[in-house]
Amino acid sequence: MDYLASEKRYETMKYNRCGKSGLKLPAISLGLWHNFGGVDVFENGRAIVRRAFDLGITHFDLANNYGPPPGSAEENFGTILKKDFKPYRDELIISTKAGWGMWPGPYGDWGSKKYLIASLDQSLKRMGLDYVDIFYHHRPDPETPLEETMSALDQILRSGKALYVGISQYKPEETKKAVEVLKQMGHHLLIHQPRYNMFDRWIEDGLTDVLENEGAGAIVFSPLAQGLLTDKYLNGIPEGSRASKPWGFLKPEGITQDKLSKVKKLNELAARRNQSLAQMAIAWLLRKPVITSALIGASKVEQIEDAVKTLDNLNFNDDELKEIESILS
Ligand SMILES: NC(=O)c1ccc[n+]([C@@H]2O[C@H](COP(=O)([O-])OP(=O)(O)OC[C@H]3O[C@@H](n4cnc5c(N)ncnc54)[C@H](OP(=O)(O)O)[C@@H]3O)[C@@H](O)[C@H]2O)c1
Repeated sequence: MDYLASEKRYETMKYNRCGKSGLKLPAISLGLWHNFGGVDVFENGRAIVRRAFDLGITHFDLANNYGPPPGSAEENFGTILKKDFKPYRDELIISTKAGWGMWPGPYGDWGSKKYLIASLDQSLKRMGLDYVDIFYHHRPDPETPLEETMSALDQILRSGKALYVGISQYKPEETKKAVEVLKQMGHHLLIHQPRYNMFDRWIEDGLTDVLENEGAGAIVFSPLAQGLLTDKYLNGIPEGSRASKPWGFLKPEGITQDKLSKVKKLNELAARRNQSLAQMAIAWLLRKPVITSALIGASKVEQIEDAVKTLDNLNFNDDELKEIESILS
C-alpha cells in the first residue's frame, strides 16, 4: 500500500542541536541493528520505520554489518526507502558505519582507508543512496594510525558521500585525538555514538566532558540495555524477545537476578511517575544537555509509540534522581 507521511509528524517530537553544528536530531532516533535483517519479517520492519517517521523520528541509524546476515538491514532499508520514502529523502538523516568485520581477508575490518572507502560504497549501493548524512568509524582501531582512519573520513566528506562524520566507541583520549586530527583537515567531529544506559555509565567518566568541550553531539545506543530496562524480563524470557533469539546480542546469562531486582524497583518508580520504565530510562538519559538523541531499537510498532511518549515527561525532581542513584548503586 502506498505510504503518505502523517501531516502531524512534526507536532510532538523535540529536535536537539547536535553539539555546535547546524544539524538537529530528534530526541529519539531509531537504529536498525536488530529486527530489520534477512531473518526478520520485512513488513514488520517497514511498518516500524513508517510509524517512526509519522511520529517525527527523522533519523535512522544503520551499519554495514547489521542483519543478520550482514548487509541485509541496509538492503531492507533501501527497499523501504524506495517503496515509501522517495519524496522524503531531504527530511531524513540516514547514517551508516564501518569498523567491524564485514568481508573476509585483511581489508574488510577495522579502520584502514581501504576498508572504510570500499565499505561506504557498498552501503550506498545496498541502500540505493547517493550519500548518507552521517558516516561513522564504528570502533577504534589500535593498529591503524588514527591519521589514516581520519583521512578516510576526510576523503568521504570531500567526495560528498557523507555530509557529516562521527565516531563510535572511542574512549575520551581517542576522541580528543580524533577531534584534533579532523580539525587539522578542516573538519568538525559532528557526533559520537557510545553505549549509555542506567546499567552502563562509562561515558560519565570523561567522555561527556570531552564532547561538551569540543562541541560534538552524542547519540547514545542501547538506551534500554537491549530491552532489559523495560518490564519485559521481570517474569522470565518471553518468546520472541531479543534474549530468546539465537542471533540476539542480549544473552540470557546477562539477565541476572541483581539486574532484575534493580529493574523491579525502577519499574515501581516509573509507575509513580506515570511512565513506563522504557520511558523513564530514556528520559533519564536525555536529562544531560550533551545527549543529543537516544538511539532506540524496536521490534514492534507499539515500542516506538511507547518511546515517543517519553517526551510527555522529561523532568526529574531531586528525590527521583536520588532514588535512581540509590537503586543503581
Ligand atoms: N555504535 C555501536 O557500536 C552500536 C552498538 C549497538 C547498537 N547501536 C545502535 O543503537 C541502536 C539501538 O540499540 P538497541 O536495539 O540495543 O537499543 P535498546 O533501545 O536498548 O533496545 C531495543 C530493544 O528493546 C526492546 N524494547 C524496546 N522498546 C520496548 C518497550 N517499550 N517495551 C519492551 N521492550 C522494548 C525491544 O526488544 P525485543 O526485540 O525483545 O522486543 C527492542 O528491540 C541499534 O539499532 C544501533 O543502531 C550501535
